Amino acid sequence: MAASDSGGSDATSDRGEATDREETTDRGNAVELRNVRKTYYLGEPVHALDGVDVSIPRGSYTAVMGPSGSGKSTLLNLIGCLDTPTEGEVWVNDREVSALSQRERTEVRGEEVGFVFQTFNLMPKLTAAENVSLPLVFGGVDKNERRKRARELLEDVGLGDRVGHRPNELSGGQRQRVAIARALAADPSIILADEPTGNLDQETGEQIMGLFQRLHDEGNTILMVTHERPIAEHAERVIHVLDGTVERIEEIESPRRVETELV
Ligand SMILES: Nc1ncnc2c1ncn2[C@@H]1O[C@H](COP(=O)(O)OP(=O)(O)OP(=O)(O)O)[C@@H](O)[C@H]1O
Ligand SMILES: [Mg+2]
Repeated sequence: MAASDSGGSDATSDRGEATDREETTDRGNAVELRNVRKTYYLGEPVHALDGVDVSIPRGSYTAVMGPSGSGKSTLLNLIGCLDTPTEGEVWVNDREVSALSQRERTEVRGEEVGFVFQTFNLMPKLTAAENVSLPLVFGGVDKNERRKRARELLEDVGLGDRVGHRPNELSGGQRQRVAIARALAADPSIILADEPTGNLDQETGEQIMGLFQRLHDEGNTILMVTHERPIAEHAERVIHVLDGTVERIEEIESPRRVETELV
């Protein structure tokens, strides 16, 4: 479509006639993918994503489901600027990240996106507080401020009494909560989570869902990959992915709410 750099598509103030995709772009969407393809060339080309058009409204809570190998992680990685598409456009908070330099993408990733992984990906030698404050080191925040912020974040996820523990001194659910606190350190508006409850028992998974619910209630955009239907039902809608394409989008009429408070 139109040139993608200068970011300034025309600023028509008229909301009236949303013609089609073009109109929905810069307004109200945290993320937008346009005809995105991702092909891996390892011998036979693998089309991990094969023409994906999807919009994630700002402040929405969306789950992504689909069989193993269908492209869910690839989708998240492109949005999280961990990878670039072979073709098509990826927009994050009104910037076409697929057109940015590596350095600019790293910036977007650091500032606008918080990533939570199935395997937590914590640094084993660092304490909970040090893990949480790591993104702030890269953000140039001074040491005292980092310490204070890490403590607050850990308190927020119910781990105020575990700041000095290393990952191997924490339970799985506690580790995932540290990872979530770390994802929130730079105050991103978009939380991307790739099977955040995949390694947790049901009860601990519910605790994590309680946290996500609060983040969503606070206005953050959440995009979460899961294999578990009950987990997906916490979201407002489910994107079903199949063979690298969006098969359908399902609205969840009354998303599940977590009643219990964090311990
Ligand atoms: N770095 C890579 N190099 C080559 N092929 C890859 C790479 N990453 C992913 N793929 C392939 O792309 C396809 C989609 O992978 P992806 O990881 O997105 O699937 P997924 O839906 O997340 O699966 P799962 O549920 O098992 O995590 C798979 O066929 C996979 O083998
Ligand atoms: Mg995956």
